[in-house]
Amino acid sequence: MTIGIHDISAATGGLVFTLADLAEHEGIDVGKYHRGIGQTEMSLTSEDEDIVTMAARAAAPILERHGSTGIRTVVFATESGIDQSKAAAVTLHGVLGLPPEVRAVEVKEACYSATAAIQFALGIVARRPSERVLVIASDVARYELNSSGEATQGSGAVALLIAEDPALLEIEPESGLWTGDVWDFWRPNDRSTALVDGRYSVQVYLDALEGAWNDYQAQGGAEFSSFARVCYHQPFTRMAVKAQQRLARIADPDGEARDIDRLADTVEYNTRIGNSYTASIYLAFLSLLDNGPDLSGERVGFFSYGSGAVGEFFSGVLVPGYKDRVRVDALERMLASRRPVAYDEYRHRHIAYDRVGDFETADETQGAVRFAGVSEHKRQYERR
Ligand code: HMG
Repeated sequence: MTIGIHDISAATGGLVFTLADLAEHEGIDVGKYHRGIGQTEMSLTSEDEDIVTMAARAAAPILERHGSTGIRTVVFATESGIDQSKAAAVTLHGVLGLPPEVRAVEVKEACYSATAAIQFALGIVARRPSERVLVIASDVARYELNSSGEATQGSGAVALLIAEDPALLEIEPESGLWTGDVWDFWRPNDRSTALVDGRYSVQVYLDALEGAWNDYQAQGGAEFSSFARVCYHQPFTRMAVKAQQRLARIADPDGEARDIDRLADTVEYNTRIGNSYTASIYLAFLSLLDNGPDLSGERVGFFSYGSGAVGEFFSGVLVPGYKDRVRVDALERMLASRRPVAYDEYRHRHIAYDRVGDFETADETQGAVRFAGVSEHKRQYERR
């Protein structure tokens, strides 16, 4: 029996802000953003979008294609949770109109938790192969204005259907793990923007990659030369270049492995979306599926990282025929339909983001589900 990713679909915030605009107002060379960190744009959420509306938009094509039969678990991975108690998975369950016979839960560990959700899902399907698990990764990445992290904001969601005999990717059983209790990036309960020690976080990411790779090898994982591509967590796409260089140095010190760019075709979406935290690594995978060559039967590596910090390296094999199952232009169309916002509007929206008490939101999103506001401390959602 093989288990893995049977379907994948993504969504992003409905607004776009360019890093050229940010650089111009900061009076710096845009090369720092375009080449130095590898980002051209960031997706922002409109007033009536949040992690649930993006998740609903990402999940809709999967439910349209497969229905909800067999989905008895929904796991929602996020680090931008909307309630301290109620899982966003339960709200999403309601918004999607799923049947009551479902367990719905939210998981957290910075950008890493969608990978944990996938590992939990593999276990559920292994025990009962008739069941399918809907895994959601959805986040809004926000840093303070004028901080070093500001250029690495973004928003996006990925929905994944984990099932037996998957149509896209068979996930292999070996996994390499690394956990260290550090403070490289965190968000206390009273803040909607993250705190970060930027340069230190880059170092910890690379140390976690090395630790997870070494453990992956110790667990009997595949050789470096057998990987056609590696999808990395991409807080900014230049980070994946640094990761690729570090991995090549430790896994292939003599440079004898196949001479290929293992990052190729994995950065197209994240360059334009920005950091989407839990969704970022799976947007890298979707980019490869949509924009890369047919790699049927080839092995893909995944390095998932979440600050705090946890890293995991795992692998999968692309199922022959997978190219016929992807929705090649779907995310591209959504990216093209984002409404551009200029610098002043961007700053205004950033400051106005934290609203308290009861309020109604403006009707802005192009998605089928909108966040309508808060009434008696309860978040309200509407389906168009
Ligand atoms: P910074 O300190 O402002 O930038 O912020 P810098 O001075 O280090 O410059 C960045 C790069 O641009 C450098 O290249 C410069 O040389 C280059 P590098 O040395 O890195 O190769 N540069 C230029 N290149 C071309 N033309 C120019 C030019 N000028 C400079 N004119 C930093 C960088 C990443 C620290 C900042 O953006 C930040 O704090 N970001 C947030 C933290 C982050 O993303 N960390 C990544 C690892 S942790 C992680 O991935 C977890 C996370 O996703 C959260 C989670 O897990 O939940 C963040």
